[in-house]
Amino acid sequence: MQAFMDAIVKPIAGPGLELRRVPVPEPKAGEVLIKIHKTAICGTDVHIYNWDPWAAEHIKHPPMTIGHEYVGEIAKLGDGVTGLHVGQRVSGEGHITCHHCRNCHTGNIQWCKDTVSVGVDRDGAFAEYVCIPATNVIMIDESLDEDVVAFFDAFGNATHTALMFPLVGEDVLITGAGPIGIIAAGICKFAGARRVIITDINDDRLVLAKKMNVDAAVNTMREDLREVMKQQNIVEGFDVGLEMSGSEIAFKQMISCMRNGGKISLLGIGNKPFTLNMNDIIGKGLMLQGIYGRKMDNWHQMSYMVQGGLDLSPVITHRFHYTEFEKGFAAMNSGKSGKVILDWTTKK
Ligand SMILES: NC(=O)c1ccc[n+]([C@@H]2O[C@H](COP(=O)([O-])OP(=O)(O)OC[C@H]3O[C@@H](n4cnc5c(N)ncnc54)[C@H](O)[C@@H]3O)[C@@H](O)[C@H]2O)c1
Ligand SMILES: [Zn+2]
Ligand SMILES: [Zn+2]
Repeated sequence: MQAFMDAIVKPIAGPGLELRRVPVPEPKAGEVLIKIHKTAICGTDVHIYNWDPWAAEHIKHPPMTIGHEYVGEIAKLGDGVTGLHVGQRVSGEGHITCHHCRNCHTGNIQWCKDTVSVGVDRDGAFAEYVCIPATNVIMIDESLDEDVVAFFDAFGNATHTALMFPLVGEDVLITGAGPIGIIAAGICKFAGARRVIITDINDDRLVLAKKMNVDAAVNTMREDLREVMKQQNIVEGFDVGLEMSGSEIAFKQMISCMRNGGKISLLGIGNKPFTLNMNDIIGKGLMLQGIYGRKMDNWHQMSYMVQGGLDLSPVITHRFHYTEFEKGFAAMNSGKSGKVILDWTTKK
């Protein structure tokens, strides 16, 4: 095997990324080396590219390879790894957890107290190869389209959030039509919601959301959400809310439009603290659930939803060779993109 590989690296603490030659990692005992086929750019990668306050706080040891949304094949097994084989198609859970805390013991790895993130705390997948613990490897059926599997990590956030509460026959409000909100809209329709209404303040994002067959895609800067609710025959308010914008304005609007006793899953991460009137939540008897990462079972649900007919291909707006990663990040920064896929299957 080659000793060096191409990798997209954060070279120093500051804006930008660089394509560099770095050593191919060697899988330690219990680890697996994965040859990357396709990767997808996540909002987190954009934070790291732009070097905003979040990135400055979390990327502690540049130079490092970034990226955590990928699909590929097993290239090498470290000592002691069983049940997997070279050539097998795989993706990987990006949160490496401790296996010993109370949440890990109950299978709730999404709440592990000692999570290490691939592409943030250790070298990531925007490279020809990535190394992860065997316990994080996710087997991927050959029937699944690799461009879609490339963003299963983000699909997992959407699945975790959308399927937190029952959806059959429910009216759902999604605030934020970023890639994750749009994917969540597709899941809600697929899972049997009655009405799925998504909001944003960016028309390009709402155009994309319409491709997932939402009942309404509402620009709340221009349109009155309550009027749309009337048109959609939503009388008492939304039964389920999925907050996927991180916006205080959107969250307050969601609270005001929920039915009494409604349930809200919170995924969006705000860039500043919110000020809320708690009485609005208490008086309505709302249930709020914070969502972090994915449950391991979400990976199974994702494969099965796609095999059952959930089509996520409309979410992909751009495809580039990995050497053109700058174009991919420009597309993400433009606010006009859905998912951006980078191809690692050919050399240029
Ligand atoms: N909790 C987790 O584990 C986790 C994991 C991944 C992403 N996230 C967060 O989930 C959110 C969604 O991720 P994404 O990649 O789709 O993000 P994104 O930034 O691409 O999408 C957010 C969308 O919200 C829209 N928005 C802003 N203000 C709004 C308002 N007032 N009303 C309605 N929409 C508004 C933006 O225009 C944008 O389209 C982000 O906040 C992200 O940080 C959380
Ligand atoms: Zn991601
Ligand atoms: Zn743990």
